[in-house]
Amino acid sequence: MTRILAISGSLRRASHNTALLRAAAANAPEGVDVELFEGLERIPPYNEDHDTDDVPAEVARLREEIGAADAVLFSTPEYNGTLPGQLKQVVDWASRPHGDSAWNDKPAAIMGASTGAIGTARAQNHLRQILVYLNMFSINQPEVLISHAMDRFDQEGNLTDAPTRDRIIGLLQNHVDWARRIGPK
Ligand code: FNR
Repeated sequence: MTRILAISGSLRRASHNTALLRAAAANAPEGVDVELFEGLERIPPYNEDHDTDDVPAEVARLREEIGAADAVLFSTPEYNGTLPGQLKQVVDWASRPHGDSAWNDKPAAIMGASTGAIGTARAQNHLRQILVYLNMFSINQPEVLISHAMDRFDQEGNLTDAPTRDRIIGLLQNHVDWARRIGPK
């Protein structure tokens, strides 16, 4: 079983990005378990004082879940042309303590949904740059840039757009092949 930890960058209850990850979980290939990280809203602002001392419980759980995963799948909104601040908090907390980053060496994939016309292209590029710094290995294609997200889900947040579902499935398949190819250290 290949375990993928799915991290949404949105705190919003009816988030399109969280809905994308739910669709990924529902359409995961056989032998692949996509688990959504719960509790983004309880991740506090990053504070280096707590890298090792009095580590917030949610941060400890975040680090453990990343550590236990074979790969990570991000779905990021785009806020003012970049990734949301809360997703950066997650990145920074799990990158520490120095020399013991939970992200190191992990295969990664990125997707994103926005209500705008370019479907988080800028946010995804920024996140991809950060993943390079973290020594994560992100699969490049297919790009999953979901524009006009409000037209692609029903009232309950179920994905209704077949091309979007097909792109998610394509990304997941490449992501899993990639994760198995580069394997654990
Ligand atoms: C946005 N939105 C947005 N959309 C976009 O395509 N490019 C952008 O730069 C921005 N900037 C932005 C800033 C802020 C503060 C908010 C709240 C929103 C709109 C955004 O795509 C929309 O709210 C999505 O629905 C957010 O993703 P979730 O919460 O649905 O996952």
